[in-house]
Amino acid sequence: MGWSDWIRDGCEVEPSLYAADFRRLGEQIDALLGAGCRVFHFDCGDGHFVPPVTMGPVVLRSIAPSIHEAGGVIDCHLMVDDPVHHFEEFAASGADSVTFHVEAAPDPARVAEKARAHGLGVGIAFTPGTEPEGGAEAAIRAGADIVLCMSIHPGYSGQSFMPESFGRIETLAALVDAPIQVDGGVGEDNIAALRNAGASLFVAGNAVFSAADPTEAYTRLAAAAA
Ligand code: DX5
Ligand code: ZN
Repeated sequence: MGWSDWIRDGCEVEPSLYAADFRRLGEQIDALLGAGCRVFHFDCGDGHFVPPVTMGPVVLRSIAPSIHEAGGVIDCHLMVDDPVHHFEEFAASGADSVTFHVEAAPDPARVAEKARAHGLGVGIAFTPGTEPEGGAEAAIRAGADIVLCMSIHPGYSGQSFMPESFGRIETLAALVDAPIQVDGGVGEDNIAALRNAGASLFVAGNAVFSAADPTEAYTRLAAAAA
């Protein structure tokens, strides 16, 4: 099983759990599973590659069983300096895929190989400071399953979408065959245009969890993306 099995009807909206209400995390995940959500985005920041320390394997271990039982998967976005160091524990804690940053991986093919050795899917991410051509080249070299074009400077939920991301996604889409993921400021106002630009995996933190009803917000986003 891998990304080609996880993406239904050509696109997925992935709630970014970083933006969840942590007091009610299990409840919010169960509600999203009930609404049909199957791919969850899990952000790990190390306080160095990005300023904040976010969440890691302890949280992952507590949520993975119920997500997997329902047929869901966990897509881990590693905003960390030394991704390889974390693969074993993420795999053991229930990660299904890891996305690491090209800015933190001078040899992306080697890093990807290490991830696959742990049975993990592989994504390659690049920040707004990296040209899409560089992200594409790394993704191709690594044989990445997905490519993540960040549409904010990584670190925090709730930032504004950077409009130049449309052109960056179009450039990327012309260069890679792998599904393109977009992360940062994705919402109902831009999701359809992002699909037109070439993205098919839509990470949504604030747009899901700041809504009065996150499941309703998820459903509306999924409909807008379809
Ligand atoms: C931040 C994370 C994102 C974040 C997105 O760097 O990578 O996944 O949770 O949040 P929104 O959708 O609110 O921009
Ligand atoms: Zn993310």
